Amino acid sequence: MDFPRLGLGTMGIDDPDAVTTAIDLGYRHLDTAQIYDNEAVVGEGIDQAGVDRDDLLVATKLWIDQLDRVRESTVESLDRLGLDSVDLLYVHRPKGAYDPESTLSAMAELRDDGLIDGIAVSNFEIGDLDRFADVLGEPPAANQVEYHPLFQPEDRLEHAREHDYPLVAYSPLSGGEVDTVEPIVEVADRHGITPEQASLAWLLAKGIHPIPKASSREHLEANRAALDVELTDEDVAAIDAVEREHELYPE
Ligand SMILES: NC(=O)c1ccc[n+]([C@@H]2O[C@H](COP(=O)([O-])OP(=O)(O)OC[C@H]3O[C@@H](n4cnc5c(N)ncnc54)[C@H](OP(=O)(O)O)[C@@H]3O)[C@@H](O)[C@H]2O)c1
Repeated sequence: MDFPRLGLGTMGIDDPDAVTTAIDLGYRHLDTAQIYDNEAVVGEGIDQAGVDRDDLLVATKLWIDQLDRVRESTVESLDRLGLDSVDLLYVHRPKGAYDPESTLSAMAELRDDGLIDGIAVSNFEIGDLDRFADVLGEPPAANQVEYHPLFQPEDRLEHAREHDYPLVAYSPLSGGEVDTVEPIVEVADRHGITPEQASLAWLLAKGIHPIPKASSREHLEANRAALDVELTDEDVAAIDAVEREHELYPE
């Protein structure tokens, strides 16, 4: 299965029907985490949708206080999700109980045993990524970072491109602020789309994999429609040049 271009962020989703609706609309990448306290909701949504498990990419994340009990904690997540395995297991942040050697080795054992398919990382900086490669001798299955027009960590995009792994963009709609930024509004108006769709189309054009969170059918559909938008190089450059820096989740 190719890594889906667009996924569903589920932080704040507490209704399984939203997940089922997303799958019905074609979403194939579902992103949850232990700290969102909704793995059971996501699992129920998947179950209700009734699609082939092999057609879904399901990701969860070990919270920072679980990184020294990787196996037990992952089994608990799988129980809540009602799944035998996840496609991506993330280190949510390289903080707390994170120890590169022991945490990543434990994750590699889970992969050997078939409980997870990919060892992924989130909020990793270049030094953390280098350490990951030192320990496991490979790049991560994905790095998930905050990436949107108002916060563009280009070093992480370059690293992902150089080492050929997917960069997943969280908060791709800038937490709802993109509609106030003039260059984005201009691009949106030129294409007859919303600023939120322009933001997603910009990420997709750069080969980044956004995971917008949406709970209504209207928003879920609008975000999927961004897959059909083709921005010009000038549009992409105009959004690249947005200067306001607004990180929603600083360390
Ligand atoms: N790894 C990490 O540390 C980390 C941190 C933060 C987030 N994440 C992941 O990234 C996902 C997305 O990030 P996020 O939830 O912070 O923010 P986001 O996706 O940038 O924005 C979500 C907000 O935008 C609204 N929205 C969605 N589609 C819209 C549309 N087409 N038009 C207008 N508004 C729209 C949503 O409203 P409705 O809900 O009403 O549709 C919600 O209020 C999370 O759910 C989570 O999976 C990961």
